[in-house]
Amino acid sequence: MALRLAGRGPVASPLRRIDFGQLSATTVTAILAAAFLPMALGHEHDEGNIPDGETVSAEPIDTTLWIHIFVQMFAFGILFPLGMVLGIIKSRWHVPLQVLATAIALLGYALGHLHGGRQFVSSNVHAKFGTIIFFLMVGQVALGIYLKLHLEKGINGRIRPIIRRIHGINGKAFPVVSWVQMLFGGITALGFCQGDHLGQCLAHFIMGSAFIAYGILLTLLLLVGQLWLRRTGRSQEFFDSVVIAAWGCVNTFTEHRWGTAWVRNDWQHTTMGIVWWCAGLAGVWLSRDRDGSPKRNFIPGFVILITGWAMSAHPQDMMISAMVHKVFGYNLMGVGITRIIEISFVLHDKPGMAEDGSQSHSFQYVPIFLLFASGFMFMGATEEQMALVKNSGMDAVAYILILYSLAFLLFLFVHMLIYVYDRSANAQKLAQPVANGRAAPGTRTEEDGRLGDAGEFELEGLMTDDEDEDDASRRNLLKHGEDDLASPNPALRNGGRS
Ligand code: HEM
Ligand code: HEM
Repeated sequence: MALRLAGRGPVASPLRRIDFGQLSATTVTAILAAAFLPMALGHEHDEGNIPDGETVSAEPIDTTLWIHIFVQMFAFGILFPLGMVLGIIKSRWHVPLQVLATAIALLGYALGHLHGGRQFVSSNVHAKFGTIIFFLMVGQVALGIYLKLHLEKGINGRIRPIIRRIHGINGKAFPVVSWVQMLFGGITALGFCQGDHLGQCLAHFIMGSAFIAYGILLTLLLLVGQLWLRRTGRSQEFFDSVVIAAWGCVNTFTEHRWGTAWVRNDWQHTTMGIVWWCAGLAGVWLSRDRDGSPKRNFIPGFVILITGWAMSAHPQDMMISAMVHKVFGYNLMGVGITRIIEISFVLHDKPGMAEDGSQSHSFQYVPIFLLFASGFMFMGATEEQMALVKNSGMDAVAYILILYSLAFLLFLFVHMLIYVYDRSANAQKLAQPVANGRAAPGTRTEEDGRLGDAGEFELEGLMTDDEDEDDASRRNLLKHGEDDLASPNPALRNGGRS
């Protein structure tokens, strides 16, 4: 359905009115995507060589599938997330980059279906989710083309903001969905996480991803979100504690099948849930000072500390597994300890290093990086992975160093994406020395900054309607609103564009 928008559907007549040269690349991508539709609906799986009770055959992964893996990691892991940031800042490179990424993703798609070598059962989770991602991608492109058409009159005036919202939400979900699909790809390729292993896989991948997600959120807050956080009128520990309490509640009731015997690690998991909500409630309480103003506290850091200790104390069968769990435990305990040091002794309970939220202390990156490392360490420590490493000739130290490398790469990539965002969203702030936090409205520097902004970053023609301007000014709140919440300046809010 979405594809018809680009071809003969309701958009056909406006298409004739718009500049074809400008759209040709996106249209071609949409048509290409349509051509891949039959493929997305599945291919014949040859399962003849898969032994009974297994989900993969013994053959090695063939070159076609290896290329699929690298091509998709490049498209979904690097290009789409970068494109997403360019979309958020309304860069004129958004559309070309996403068109390129879509074309590469389609190539990767074909390769995923055309591979020989190792065989996989047709019901594998990566293949199933692959179809969903395909439709999300095609839908996203279709919505993107609609936005690019700039249909703003009549009914489109009402539809457009909705479409933009959906495109925005789906676009921001893309990196998360891609992450999941990459993990599914890894376990499918190796035939992992079947039967009894499923529960353990879920625990390790969900919790590991959660550590990384927390690390990414803390990076965002540190680099571009300090003022946003301050505007909420709450301390960071309030939010952390609420999440901890809620998560604890869920775990209290889900980690043990009530009414049955207490088996294996049920006790540990359930009591962990209990301590989380107990601590979380205390954390919420401590996040306000006597006068009601936001106050920092040690509780989320402490919860992470004891979680690291408890998780690493799980009995392990294999030597290598014990070692990886131990290092994981040190990392997570390190997150907790360094976070408490950061809050209490580096920041001295202040929300950030500088009043205007623009600075950070080198120590503040320590807990964040350790979160990334803990995430990778935990995700890489399931029984099956441990057995694989043990049989590979690699030792625990080498394996752990590889996991650290992955953590550094993702840490770097997140910083790079935030940099791209920051350069545009806070361009003025970065470009000029400011008095009282920002230049007076209408001064030369501000005018220059805005012109530079428009020239360098904006997608031409994107900023034509009122919602666009509203949206842009809201997005730029960081830039303008922080010091002047009491008297927002309409001249600034309108961005001075006509
Ligand atoms: C290839 C076809 C695509 C086209 C033609 C396209 C076009 C556009 C346009 C015109 C906008 C500006 C909308 C506005 O605010 O008026 C936009 C924003 C955006 N796009 Fe795309 N896009 C495409 C693909 C993608 C993909 C694949 C992603 C996901 C990774 C994505 C993520 C975003 C995001 C996050 C925004 C910002 C939305 C917001 O500010 O809330 N786009 N896109
Ligand atoms: C987010 C990026 C990715 C997407 C969208 C994607 C999508 C797909 C699709 C649609 C298929 C065909 C499934 C079918 O047979 O119906 C496939 C096959 C496959 N992919 Fe991926 N893939 C991605 C990344 C990866 C990664 C990172 C790996 C491995 C580390 C991987 C491993 C595999 C394997 C083993 C198959 C063969 C499964 C089969 O024949 O059923 N993929 N992929």
